[in-house]
Amino acid sequence: MRILLANSLAVIFLCACASVFYVWTGLERALGRYKRGLGEPRSNGFRDQLGDLSRKTFRALLAMPGAQRPHLGDSDNTNNFTGRGYFAGTLTYGKQPGLNVSNSGAMKEVPIRLSDLVEDGVFWNDRMDALLSAGFSEAHAQTWRQRARASRVVSLEPGCGRTSNRLARFSDGTKACVRYGINADQVLGETLSYYLASLLGIANLPPLALSQVSPSSEQWATVKEDMADLQWSDKAVVSLTEWVANLTGVVTPAPLRQEGRGLNPLRADLDNRTLGELQELVQWTDLIVFDYLTANFDRLVSNLFSLQWDSRVMERDTNNLLKSPAGDLVFVDNEAGLVHGYRVLHMWEQYHKTLLSSVCLFRKRTASRIIEMHQKRDAPSRLLGLYQDSESLAPVLGFLSDEQAGVLQERIDYIYKHILNCKRTYSQL
Ligand SMILES: Nc1ncnc2c1ncn2[C@@H]1O[C@H](COP(=O)(O)OP(=O)(O)O)[C@@H](O)[C@H]1O
Ligand SMILES: [Mg+2]
Repeated sequence: MRILLANSLAVIFLCACASVFYVWTGLERALGRYKRGLGEPRSNGFRDQLGDLSRKTFRALLAMPGAQRPHLGDSDNTNNFTGRGYFAGTLTYGKQPGLNVSNSGAMKEVPIRLSDLVEDGVFWNDRMDALLSAGFSEAHAQTWRQRARASRVVSLEPGCGRTSNRLARFSDGTKACVRYGINADQVLGETLSYYLASLLGIANLPPLALSQVSPSSEQWATVKEDMADLQWSDKAVVSLTEWVANLTGVVTPAPLRQEGRGLNPLRADLDNRTLGELQELVQWTDLIVFDYLTANFDRLVSNLFSLQWDSRVMERDTNNLLKSPAGDLVFVDNEAGLVHGYRVLHMWEQYHKTLLSSVCLFRKRTASRIIEMHQKRDAPSRLLGLYQDSESLAPVLGFLSDEQAGVLQERIDYIYKHILNCKRTYSQL
């Protein structure tokens, strides 16, 4: 009897141990899952959706149910431009023009309408504008200029292109590209192109400030030996432009290549594009207007010219154009604009005109500034005013000749007429 009792107790004890073990391992598994849930990235998280976004077509974005649609403006995507947020605006959709709800309640895709992208015939609409960041905002540019002028240059290194350009490091660790013009027109062209972009509200150019190099000035004294090695002459006026990290090359989009059909407010030109592509195309339309105005051949136009002997030139990166990881185009090296560009206009004008005529889509802000400067006939005087207000070295560097000022105004008028022609052609469609 006693043996029977002892055996029963042993069995009960073993069962109790097994139960405790079972409960414990179950708990541990559950706890493990919970910890992983906290610590490991979830595969279908918000970041994935954002990463995916640039590959989605615009139509697909419109088709996303409201609750799932990421709010782009909430992105924590840091912009290597200058650390500002990527998207200036948030895309919000009151209605979904790309969707039709059938009687059965099922959603079916219908082709995208031009009114989803374009308004008033030839202008990108607000939704398209909202795809872009604020770029290098005016407020940012002003702060950068003040700092660049007040900071000591502690080193001059390669890293900004040809030998006459130097990558300058300031005492606070920030960097700028210094352009020492082989002739004064280069720095003048760079500077006036920058301020003209600013007048047009085109925020794709890194902030610029002028400086006068001198081994005896506080700003340049630390690098006076480098300056002597570079044979920079005393009192030369150089431009400083903000150095931007992580920029990469940009290939000209297919519609703007020679064999392309141009960029017009037509479904055939705009359908089936990803959001990333549309975001870039909007900026390209500003670039085409800007390069026409400044007669800058050293970007797309020189590539068109090179097609004669290099049929694959368009498949490579475009000169003097870079892109941030967030998709912002950065127009660098504008020294061929306005001064030199106008001097050699007879060589390039047919290419400039061809390129402008291939685009009938415009940003509203850019077009409105062009229209204003056409109506008031004041492009050169506005440019002079902004340049003089912003740069105390303006009297040293000089300005456009009367003839060049006339060419600038003519080109404003020409773009104005082009916008009207585009409206005439496309507003009825
Ligand atoms: N503001 C900038 N920020 C970062 N890199 C720049 C900047 N400006 C120029 N660079 C770099 O230097 C290269 C050459 O610049 P660019 O101004 O075109 O020089 P170049 O006068 O030799 O044509 C660019 O392709 C880019 O790699
Ligand atoms: Mg260059």
